[in-house]
Amino acid sequence: MVKNIPPKQNMLYVDYQNALSDKIGLANGISKRSFLGELKKNQPSLKTIFRSKNKEEYAFLDLPDDQATLRKIKAWAKGQEKNRWENIILLGIGGSALGAIAVRKALTGHCQNLKNRPRFFIIDNIDPDPIAELLSVADPVKSLFIVISKSGGTTEPLALYSIFREKLEEKKVKNLKKHFVFITGPQKNPLRTLAKKEGFDLFDVPPKIGGRFSVLSAVGLLPAVLMKVDTSALLKGAKKMRDLIKKIHPEENPALILACLQYLLDKKKEKGMTVLMPYSSRLFRMGDWYRQLLAESIGKKSTVGPTPITALGTTDQHSQLQLYCEGPANKWFIFFRVLKHKNEIKLGSHLPKELDFLNHKKLNQIIDAALQGTSESLTKNKRPNVTIEIPTIDAESLGMLFMLFEIQIALLGLMYKVNAFSQPGVEEGKKITKKLLSK
Ligand code: PA5
Repeated sequence: MVKNIPPKQNMLYVDYQNALSDKIGLANGISKRSFLGELKKNQPSLKTIFRSKNKEEYAFLDLPDDQATLRKIKAWAKGQEKNRWENIILLGIGGSALGAIAVRKALTGHCQNLKNRPRFFIIDNIDPDPIAELLSVADPVKSLFIVISKSGGTTEPLALYSIFREKLEEKKVKNLKKHFVFITGPQKNPLRTLAKKEGFDLFDVPPKIGGRFSVLSAVGLLPAVLMKVDTSALLKGAKKMRDLIKKIHPEENPALILACLQYLLDKKKEKGMTVLMPYSSRLFRMGDWYRQLLAESIGKKSTVGPTPITALGTTDQHSQLQLYCEGPANKWFIFFRVLKHKNEIKLGSHLPKELDFLNHKKLNQIIDAALQGTSESLTKNKRPNVTIEIPTIDAESLGMLFMLFEIQIALLGLMYKVNAFSQPGVEEGKKITKKLLSK
């Protein structure tokens, strides 16, 4: 029997019944037998991952234990308080920005920059227009810049650094040191050399941690501390999830379950696209973080690489759901359901007769009903879908999600037989760009 265990208190829960053939037929859904077989077959991979914890690739598993780095960052951040920054501006791209963006969106609220100081901005592109716009509202003299690049040589963050540095120099700022903190890999690289030369504060990305697996290192923690996120809870959640995945029975193991679903639905049921659709605006940018993690880690051979897609409930019900329900049956769906939103907002009572069933309903009830409606209509149309239930959105649950997906991807690397920790395609593009600009 495939169990669908009820959620444990304060733990995430994966409900995957709508991906099984019992619900959607064998042409699109996985039989219980083959699902159980796949869980059993891949259980040793989980052991491999945890046993080789000290091996290069799996070092991300140790990050929740690194309290020393967190203490160092917190002490440094305390020292920044005297500067009374008006703006904190993060410059980074890919794995050096997406984690901070996800954390920011989930944990600091939508209107933070309107209400509080310092305002926090994350620049992860080199489109000149938004940069000009930012410069028109944020005075570099009143800003702290966090420059992040694991390799230390990526064009975008270095180009952005040079723009803001130039602005500071134009404004005759003497103490440039005060305005910059760099985060980079420990190897010799252009950013590190620059930091040493200029005397900028510097934090390391631990040597074995890949860009897209770095959110729980200084790369994600330093910005999160400055955003006043409860970073101890973030690490606590990640640790809790890691320890659970390590010991829990395969049939209840969320990372193994998600990895087996991904693999079987892609390889056996031709669902080459994975749609991640949180029913929560706060978790929407987790989708972008996951999109990079899945795409860059598994998209390695011409025959291997599920395509991740991000969508938002309920918004995209009104733009994508038609395609999802009746278009090509080449997708499967992961929903996030938040059991307790931070706020409860009640509707009024003045709706027209046709909609009076909404009178006095809470938005939470409506969003939940909409998710159920979407899930049921997809199921009716034989589209596999899975719901991850999240008790509430806080630092701890976010830490759990980060760790859950990182281990899922590590497992998928072994299942698809690809190196989940390299990105030769990205490196190639970086090299060509540099060559073109050097001419
Ligand atoms: O996951 C990765 O390693 C990449 O996607 C990088 O995050 C991205 O290319 C940015 O690289 P870097 O942090 O070295 O500037």
